[in-house]
Amino acid sequence: MAFAYHDDRLFVEDVPLADIAARFGTPCYVYSRATLERNWRAYDDAFGSRRHRVCYAVKANGNLALLNILARLGSGFDIVSRGELARCLAAGADPQHIVFSGVGKGAAEIRYALEVGIGCLNVESGAELARIESLAADCGRRAPVSLRVNPDVDPQTHPYISTGLHENKFGIPMAAAAQLYEQAARSPHLAVRGIACHIGSQLTSLVPFVDAIGRVMELVHALAGRGIRLQRIDVGGGLGITYRDEAPPAIAEYVRAVSDAVGRDYELVTEPGRSIVANAGLLLTTVEYLKATPVKNFAIVDAAMTELIRPALYQAWHDVLPVERTDSAEVRRYELVGPVCETGDFLANGRDLALAEGSRLALMDAGAYGFAMASNYNARPRPPEVLVDGKFVHLVRAREVLEDLWAGECTLPA
Ligand code: LLP
Repeated sequence: MAFAYHDDRLFVEDVPLADIAARFGTPCYVYSRATLERNWRAYDDAFGSRRHRVCYAVKANGNLALLNILARLGSGFDIVSRGELARCLAAGADPQHIVFSGVGKGAAEIRYALEVGIGCLNVESGAELARIESLAADCGRRAPVSLRVNPDVDPQTHPYISTGLHENKFGIPMAAAAQLYEQAARSPHLAVRGIACHIGSQLTSLVPFVDAIGRVMELVHALAGRGIRLQRIDVGGGLGITYRDEAPPAIAEYVRAVSDAVGRDYELVTEPGRSIVANAGLLLTTVEYLKATPVKNFAIVDAAMTELIRPALYQAWHDVLPVERTDSAEVRRYELVGPVCETGDFLANGRDLALAEGSRLALMDAGAYGFAMASNYNARPRPPEVLVDGKFVHLVRAREVLEDLWAGECTLPA
């Protein structure tokens, strides 16, 4: 285990978290290289010799060092913006192994993707297909495309992160897809690669994945009957992790299920984000004040919804572990809240902890959608990111300084 107690001190790999807090201050994100690599390899190894590509979803955590580690393992990437594409290239990714998802790709984003030789654009509407075709014609390239279809499957996850229902904004309705494929297949500016779907995030059952792929494969076979033969099936991301008591399937089980559902005649692409990076990271924080009111005990910490918005936004649970276990304070039930001026600014509710001013805590499983969703609200500089590799500690993103907060702003002339 990369995160474990030794003599009541919480370690990341071979490094005590207390040392990291002392050196870099808090709040601070800390990642384990071994965990990141283990998770990615769990996918890649489970696919074995079948044609496949694991395209890590950059939105979960786009830190350059993490992307570079994954690129060195041979990972592809799933991106949703020009910024994520630029990050991947800066991290040494091969553009041929990048897929570009998202409902609202701008013309400049599509042009950039074509210019760098993107592996595939996952198209989400007829209008987008037409735009890609005309931009490809303009720049004299043949755009590689897959259509992202909406299989209308309930992923049974939080409504904000479910994407494969017909009422969601994502994907092309199954009924409209065949006609668009015929149009794309006729175009000299488009190269039809395959089909894609992504039904949601933090799924803890295989059933919706298998249902969705079943529907997608029906379409694939129908298209083959019309002479349109797809090469690759992109099954999206979405495998959940255990934050509290969820029991998602293991990565290898997921891979077996999707692989069987797709069959061996196609290249299989996955776009996992959370299941690769969530449990490879934590957010380190320090208690500023303990504040008892007649009804609640608040532990006011130096991290907030600005560092980790998931509890405020999705009522998400993150385990809270003391960096140093002690019996010098009494265990009380605490509300862990940040300094931001909003009642919604909480990190954890009703946790039994032994705390004092200055106690350090780790919010676990925060590697995915943690830093990536951090903001500067309340003019709070974003925290540093530290990557632990065995006994080595690397600062992979410095804490923002105050001047960063107004970089690019100016006052009016006198
Ligand atoms: N592919 C596509 C097209 C996606 O939209 C997503 C996530 C992924 C892959 C990666 O899914 P994952 O394997 O990470 O579940 N901020 C939310 C999660 C939003 C997910 C959005 N799409 C959270 O903190 O729970």
